[in-house]
Amino acid sequence: MTEDHRITLQGESIAVSPGETILDAAARAGVEIPTLCHDPRLEPAGACRTCLVEIDGWRRLAPACATVAHPGMIVTTENARIDRHRRSLLALYATDHPADRAASEMGAPDQLLAMTERYDAPTDWGTMPPCREGRPDDRNPYIHYEPDTCILCARCTRYCAEVEGVSAITLAGRGSQTTISTVDRLSLLDTTCELCGGCVDVCPTGAMTEKLPLVREQKPERELEKIRTTCNYCGVGCQLDLNVDPEANDGRGAVVKVTSPEPGTTTNDGNLCVKGRFAYDFIDHPDRLTVPLIRGADGALHEASWDDALEAAARGLLGVKARHGPDALGFVSSSRCTVEENYLVQKLARAVFGTNNVHQCAAT
Ligand code: SF4
Ligand code: SF4
Ligand code: FES
Repeated sequence: MTEDHRITLQGESIAVSPGETILDAAARAGVEIPTLCHDPRLEPAGACRTCLVEIDGWRRLAPACATVAHPGMIVTTENARIDRHRRSLLALYATDHPADRAASEMGAPDQLLAMTERYDAPTDWGTMPPCREGRPDDRNPYIHYEPDTCILCARCTRYCAEVEGVSAITLAGRGSQTTISTVDRLSLLDTTCELCGGCVDVCPTGAMTEKLPLVREQKPERELEKIRTTCNYCGVGCQLDLNVDPEANDGRGAVVKVTSPEPGTTTNDGNLCVKGRFAYDFIDHPDRLTVPLIRGADGALHEASWDDALEAAARGLLGVKARHGPDALGFVSSSRCTVEENYLVQKLARAVFGTNNVHQCAAT
């Protein structure tokens, strides 16, 4: 950045980098501009028009997310004209958007409704009958699209194409019937979709959401506790947030959803794969063992105490080691165990039994 690369933003002179957008320059200067279709990982689309700003000498308001900050520009982000425009825009969105925030937030936040409340936009400009098609018969297990909540910002389709690189979903249809669909309205299972859930994560209105029963309690995300952890399914080390409903399971709490941290804050840049995002229902699965089992002389498994089970396991392992040496033993752990548990298994193998024969499916 040089002295020549400066713009005036809300009366303050700020430095800008060549090619930087007004939105990015404003964010660096701590000036907030509302957005819905913007995502730092995606090419700007200028689709939602919530980020419009005034530029001296320009007849029309311009989208801050898609306008390069050229040196010398004088940019206004808040004034009566912008406020009038924003409130009208939000009022128009409200004409075909569910007003009941609890109902529209099937788990994911609805940033449009939050913005409507924040800017006190009118919500009495009438209602348009729903005319957008969804795919309620899509048999994929994870992703649901609610057309009435969609504002056609195309964050989901752009994410699918630009980040995931598969273009499984697209804008389809024309005019007021435009919707998000797949080729021939196929189930996502019959497309190139990788069920990464990125479209759910980027959707600003909750139109793309997780299918039940994974979000069993149907609580809005804002009522869940987020606990940051490291995904154990492979060696990448993606950061993820376990969304815990503290009241579930009679107050013991339950993980009811997994989300990715904000883009730009962790190594996975807000992305997750199908396992990291959706494979969490094993935690409270009814098939899960809760007591140790020992195989008896009758060949069947019988419930046992922890002391008896540990003693039987130690006896068996030490017997093999005594007869055939430590490398006759092998220890297999699981990516569904915690990092700490996996650490202890390799410690047990190496330090206690003297073998390096230890494996875990993620090889971490
Ligand atoms: S789940 Fe991922 S791959 Fe499938 S449609 Fe959504 S973004 Fe595309
Ligand atoms: S489903 Fe969500 S992300 Fe996709 S276009 Fe609609 S509002 Fe935007
Ligand atoms: S955020 Fe700029 S047009 Fe949508």
